[in-house]
Amino acid sequence: MTGVTFELKATDGRARTGVIRTTRGDIRTPAFMPVGTAATVKAMMPESVAATGADILLGNTYHLMLRPGAERIARLGGLHRFMNWEKPILTDSGGFQVMSLADLRKLTEKGVTFRSHVDGSKHELTPERSMEIQRLLGSDIVMCFDECPALPADRARIEESMRLSMRWAARSKAAFGDRPGHALFGIQQGGLEPDLREESAKALRDIGFDGYAIGGLAVGEGQEAMFACLDYAPDMLPNDKPRYLMGVGKPDDILGAVKRGVDMMDCVLPSRSGRTGQAWTRRGQVNIKNARHADDPRPLDAECTCPACRNYSRAYLHHVFRAGEMISGMLLTWHNLHYYQELMAGMRAAIAEGRFDAWEGEFHAQRAEGDI
Ligand code: GUN
Ligand code: ZN
Repeated sequence: MTGVTFELKATDGRARTGVIRTTRGDIRTPAFMPVGTAATVKAMMPESVAATGADILLGNTYHLMLRPGAERIARLGGLHRFMNWEKPILTDSGGFQVMSLADLRKLTEKGVTFRSHVDGSKHELTPERSMEIQRLLGSDIVMCFDECPALPADRARIEESMRLSMRWAARSKAAFGDRPGHALFGIQQGGLEPDLREESAKALRDIGFDGYAIGGLAVGEGQEAMFACLDYAPDMLPNDKPRYLMGVGKPDDILGAVKRGVDMMDCVLPSRSGRTGQAWTRRGQVNIKNARHADDPRPLDAECTCPACRNYSRAYLHHVFRAGEMISGMLLTWHNLHYYQELMAGMRAAIAEGRFDAWEGEFHAQRAEGDI
């Protein structure tokens, strides 16, 4: 065994709750992973991220290899020490980010060459180099090197890309080797085609991983199509291993994914939208830029216990956003991450107590009331 284990504690319908145990601590599932792309969750101190209830962060191979460099981070004691985050870190493998961010990409059987979006320098990523970088970073959960097209895409392109990613998954596993205390997750691809999703799942099951991600979703297909895929895709993956839906999403996307058997998710949305004046609350989205908040002495969300809601008025949050003050992004990011973690905690408790449907009804009812 790898020293990273998954214990399923309860199920309610297809929804699951459990715990992933790692040498750096437990990850309660369903888990939401805040994104710390550049060795920071933007606008947040790591202790504040932990205070929101996050058990694990996501880091990025692509960004860190370009700046400040994986070898440099390794010399400085690894990513946990570098960024002062002691709990688990999952790292994405880079291929997905190369395809969306880098310039002059060239994809071959071997891997991908590209130019950095930061300084134009030339780089290569392969399954072997991605595994090496994620080892240098000291990542607890390592992702296979993969690639996927934006949707909609031709079936031929999806099929070819999925098969390449499955060959890369086998190479990732071989290059990862045997690393006690560290886990390697495979990534299912196949777009919105059930037979390609099954072919991909079978390839991954045959290789054998510590966990299984569902990739290639939230890439332009829309929620209805994504849920239709999640109606079958999670069931193709082993029941006794964590299932991770990559890059998702809005609160209602997360709820729908958990309802369909997903255990882990990540998204930049709560942190990114906090920096643009968007707050997510149990009553839906609130745009703090809006003039209606300028004289409002009430908190953003009277029921929220985060520092932004306990100590500041909407009028203040509105003012600091309008004035371009840094505390604006800090407070809204904290609130958003806190809300996301409360959402996860609420779902975990509801699943454990067999009342997920009732919890979902409440979620939608509170949203229907709207922000008043
Ligand atoms: N992030 C969001 N979707 C994906 C995906 O399909 N693969 C990888 N590696 N990362 C992702
Ligand atoms: Zn709050």
